[in-house]
Amino acid sequence: MIKAAHATAPGKIILFGEHSVVYGKPALVTAIDKRAHIEVERHPNTPRKIRISTMDYRSSHEIPFSTAPTFITDQPTHIQPLLRIIQSIYVQEEIEESITVKVASDIPRSAGLGSSASVCVALTAALADLFDLGYSLEQISACAFKGEQLVHGTPSGIDNTVSTFGGCIRYHKGEIEPIEGSLIQLIIGNTGIARETKTWVGKVRSRYDTFPNVIEPVINAMGDLAKEAERVLATRDLVRLGELIDINHGMLSSIGVSIAELDHLVNQARSAGAYGAKLTGAGGGGCMFALVDDENHDKVFRALHESGAGPIRAQFETEGVLIH
Ligand code: PMV
Repeated sequence: MIKAAHATAPGKIILFGEHSVVYGKPALVTAIDKRAHIEVERHPNTPRKIRISTMDYRSSHEIPFSTAPTFITDQPTHIQPLLRIIQSIYVQEEIEESITVKVASDIPRSAGLGSSASVCVALTAALADLFDLGYSLEQISACAFKGEQLVHGTPSGIDNTVSTFGGCIRYHKGEIEPIEGSLIQLIIGNTGIARETKTWVGKVRSRYDTFPNVIEPVINAMGDLAKEAERVLATRDLVRLGELIDINHGMLSSIGVSIAELDHLVNQARSAGAYGAKLTGAGGGGCMFALVDDENHDKVFRALHESGAGPIRAQFETEGVLIH
């Protein structure tokens, strides 16, 4: 019997199709080389207590296990998805022990880079390893999704999926298809403005409900754009890919999820010679990315740095969730 387990799972960048993916349209997304780390330990023969410490929030909690909804709802928001996953696994697998969970992450949180999903995926994988549950990747992703639902309301499932499977993928109505993305070079800029996915998905929903005849065609066009982008990715034509990235940003603005700070960073990156730039994730703050190559990389990086966006180079990541 193992006593401890350690799992990691990557964050992500949505290249094309955030928000429209919630309406069942295809989206292109890539895992990145920034990870959430989860360490779990089991304590047999002790009454069921859950101890969770999080580096990011500098918090630590000790909670007696219960099947009641208040086991989750009485706790701070940032640990609720974790408790949802723990409760689900404890009930399903009839676990009677105490555990300690340590959470750390190199993914900026509330920034559109999938930090909550990667924590949920890594936790599920770590618990599955600790209790020898033999979960498949599909089961890990599905269990992590339960945590995501608490944070995001009606998530599309794209974040937990790419974090579990890794690589660059087309995500369409729960189905995934690997696509060629390894050659793209991106620089991420962060507005530093934290936002909640649920809020911005709700804003789009309300604009959709107010102007269905206007917003529905935009959502449909975003789906068509993702399909076109997949074709262009295969040709490695950075100029045309950049143009599609710019168009996608414009569409996201029209559905109401860009803000002045994101537009500013996008414009700075474009002026510095990026092939294209757009917000990524739910919008309302968080991150944008710029498409670059070896030629314009340094100029774009400097422009974002001078704008205070704390730019990071994002490497394409082939590996999804890993047990260490
Ligand atoms: O949570 P974020 O910012 O990584 O955005 C997720 C992408 C959305 O399409 C806005 C929501 C979803 O569930 O797909």
